[in-house]
Amino acid sequence: MKKAFILDLDGVICDTAVFHYEAWKRLAQEYHYQLTESDNEELKGVSRVDSLKFILSRANHSISEEQFQLDLERKNEWYLEKVAEMNDSYLLEGVKTFFQQCKLLNIPLGLGSASKNARLVLEKVGLLNEFQAIVDASTVIQGKPHPETFLKAAELLGFEPENCIVFEDSSSGITAAKAANMFAVGIGNQHDLPLADYCIPNLGKFDFTQV
Ligand code: BG6
Ligand code: MG
Repeated sequence: MKKAFILDLDGVICDTAVFHYEAWKRLAQEYHYQLTESDNEELKGVSRVDSLKFILSRANHSISEEQFQLDLERKNEWYLEKVAEMNDSYLLEGVKTFFQQCKLLNIPLGLGSASKNARLVLEKVGLLNEFQAIVDASTVIQGKPHPETFLKAAELLGFEPENCIVFEDSSSGITAAKAANMFAVGIGNQHDLPLADYCIPNLGKFDFTQV
């Protein structure tokens, strides 16, 4: 049966996970909290609003609703400063070959991202036109770990969930893919992504003979 691929963006296609981390870290310092690598693992795949709620709870800090909105905007401004400098050199290892191979094999591609900046980032790295379906934070009601992001991408591609393979670097995204009844390839290691069907270090290591 023909398969479709659904890819996460940050940390799978490009190196933006570290930009999110640096921007959240800067904000967390203002709450006198040192954001850790392990906090960051939990933040991967989590929406902007839920990320800030998580940080405030870790910092045991509370702010007004108005300040909450301002801080979300400031974090995004810091993030966008980094995005502005991006080009295709920010693609993670193996990504270009992966996309060439998908084209060669005629594999339909969908994006399933929790980011509101997904289209902008894809444009910066030159991949915006490679996807037949794009689902981002502005198109779903319930973010990862809810399966809506991936189910919507499958629907737009015209594929049944069991015929979709998801590529994800976040624990919440792997949970979402499994809840959607899809095959989930973890980008990273099995220790961080125990629910993944298997893990590879980057897209370049994907074995196309399995498709
Ligand atoms: C996810 C990232 O893809 O998008 C998270 O893994 C990020 O770290 C989330 O917080 C939301 O992104 P944005 O660009 O809408 O702030
Ligand atoms: Mg990710």
